[in-house]
Amino acid sequence: MSNVTVLKHPVVDNCLRYLRDKDADIVQFRRSLKHLGLFLAMEATADLPTRQYQVETPLNITADVAEAADDTVLLIPILRAGLGFVESFLEVIPRAKVAHIGMARDHETLEAKVYLSTLPKNVDVYQRVYVMDPMLATGNSCVKTLDILVEGGIKPESIVVACAFAAPEGINQVHSRYPQVKIIAATVDKKLNEVGYIIPGCGDAGDRLYLL
Ligand code: URA
Repeated sequence: MSNVTVLKHPVVDNCLRYLRDKDADIVQFRRSLKHLGLFLAMEATADLPTRQYQVETPLNITADVAEAADDTVLLIPILRAGLGFVESFLEVIPRAKVAHIGMARDHETLEAKVYLSTLPKNVDVYQRVYVMDPMLATGNSCVKTLDILVEGGIKPESIVVACAFAAPEGINQVHSRYPQVKIIAATVDKKLNEVGYIIPGCGDAGDRLYLL
């Protein structure tokens, strides 16, 4: 699968083990999603541009240093479950800005409906945009979010989608419309079931993160 990166790390496996387990409680679920978010953030930011500086060290020597240009990054969590990654990404890139997209799923048609968009007007200052949703299932919410971003002036090649669980159907849906968008996932699962849940997946990520 081109333009898809799947994380490979034993600690990511630990996180997935708890996320998938129906007996994991809300604390284990939240903690695992947060830890997984750190790994996604590290991978997603590996090629961020840097700025070069010089600093004086405690030995009064001048050292060349570099700093990630994280103030040119925009995070887009898709509500609700995307909120589960915000803290992790800000841990790694603390000066990133955050714009929320609220998306409700129609459980009959599986269509995504937008109920909130706080996309800023000055999008041209952002060189990198991370769309965050733990579940890339049908891809409907993701594509609708990408439409909002692209219509708002963001270039598809500057966008990275970060998810925990991806279904092949969701990846295909995103890439059939936006092949330039990179997808980073902790796992690509088998398929969707008849009501659009990822199999085996982790159930309803938003409910498990906030309600169960
Ligand atoms: N959203 C979820 O929370 N879980 C799925 O499996 C699919 C979409």
